[in-house]
Amino acid sequence: MSEGERDVSSGDSHPTIDFDPSTPEHAARWPEAFRDLREKHPRAWTNNQGGYWLATCYKDVLSIAQGQGVFTAAKMFNPETGRMEGGINIPSIDSPAFIPNETDGEAWKAYRQLLNPRFSPKAAEAKRQFARGVARTLVDRFIESGRCDLVEDLTSPLPGVFTMELLGLDHGMWLEIADPIHRYSYTLQTDDVAKIGAEIEEVRRKLGDALAERRRKPREDLLSYIANGEVMGRGVTELEANQMALMLVFGGLDTTTGLTACAFHYLGLHPEQRRHLIDHPDQIPVAIEEFVRFFGPIQALGRTVTQDTEMDGWSFKKGERVMIAYAAANRDPAVFDDPDTLRIDRFPNRHIGFGGGMHRCLGSFFGRLLIRAMLDEVFARLPDYRIDTDRAAPYPSVGIVNGWISIPVTFEPGPKLGGGVPIPEHTLPVHGA
Ligand code: HEM
Repeated sequence: MSEGERDVSSGDSHPTIDFDPSTPEHAARWPEAFRDLREKHPRAWTNNQGGYWLATCYKDVLSIAQGQGVFTAAKMFNPETGRMEGGINIPSIDSPAFIPNETDGEAWKAYRQLLNPRFSPKAAEAKRQFARGVARTLVDRFIESGRCDLVEDLTSPLPGVFTMELLGLDHGMWLEIADPIHRYSYTLQTDDVAKIGAEIEEVRRKLGDALAERRRKPREDLLSYIANGEVMGRGVTELEANQMALMLVFGGLDTTTGLTACAFHYLGLHPEQRRHLIDHPDQIPVAIEEFVRFFGPIQALGRTVTQDTEMDGWSFKKGERVMIAYAAANRDPAVFDDPDTLRIDRFPNRHIGFGGGMHRCLGSFFGRLLIRAMLDEVFARLPDYRIDTDRAAPYPSVGIVNGWISIPVTFEPGPKLGGGVPIPEHTLPVHGA
């Protein structure tokens, strides 16, 4: 047995399984794979990717996400290996910790205290018109032609432009910042990783430059707020500011794009449910929660065990990694009736698609606002869209984020409305190319 392996197979109720969520096979049948595991091996060990536990039932996933003082999302430098280890990725990525996601304790508290006021429901509400204005501009670009790609022309650029607005960057920078992040999410474990890794470094550098500029000359924007903020009785360091900004683009972009694309794909194949939401817009917020539950925009994330412990008959050793499969927990029949059916009127809905415990999503109000803006615009202007199912392409890998690369559609052409938020044209896809 090599390092990282653990013999749990003999006479143990927690068996060793062969599990790899980054494969195309898993992407093609993740709901079934998670259902099988939840039914047969809800607490399993895999020797893949350095070895880790996999939790798939709701109760376990929530308990581990809540931390119990034992499971941490923190990433730390290990002097023995000379690498950054732990964090939310399995295997760990040897790069600085995302802030606040890969921090813990007092530091995490201080970062959240700094960021929370900027992510409140009120802060999100203040940006609603902006999001709708971006949606209007984007739909104007293709509405007269009767066809578009819902991902390329809408669900990718809108969260991208919105995130630039949120941070205080030029709207036209969305492409150079957002595009590598999308590809990074679904090309994990492929030959392209090194190339995309270099592109992400470039994103980090650009954010670093913008933060440095705002440290010298503060503006009225979020990057200035972060660059000149205070945590733990001192100023935010350059590295901290950079890792917060990077976290915001990582946290907000692909999750929102992926979720909205999944919703459009589903509603394209279920026109009667789409019609129901168009006729009853007051029910859209309930449907959005169900989309988050059902599609698992964030599928699973990692934690590290900080001390030997036992949780309800499950024993963990210090240093072991644990993957918490939010997407599997959200289909647990112990909590959700008929969990594999998407019910747009499901209520109450105790999903943990935005996480559970201290790391619960900072940007959930923004995520909800963005999907709503896109649904509203599409319902108003291309309510009859039909998907070209032969050409629609899901993410080939859903290890962390679930989504679609492409959803080509046709619809009854309509008029341009004008009056939306201007977006530099050269950063948008050439329509019809
Ligand atoms: C539909 C969209 C979204 C989904 C499904 C989603 C999901 C999640 C989940 C599951 C977590 C928990 C991570 C963990 O357990 O370790 C999380 C954390 C986080 N999300 Fe989101 N997210 C979304 C949108 C956003 C947006 C728009 C932003 C920012 C603009 C954002 C920023 C963050 C941050 C900063 C954290 C870390 C919080 C902490 O560690 O305290 N997210 N998100």
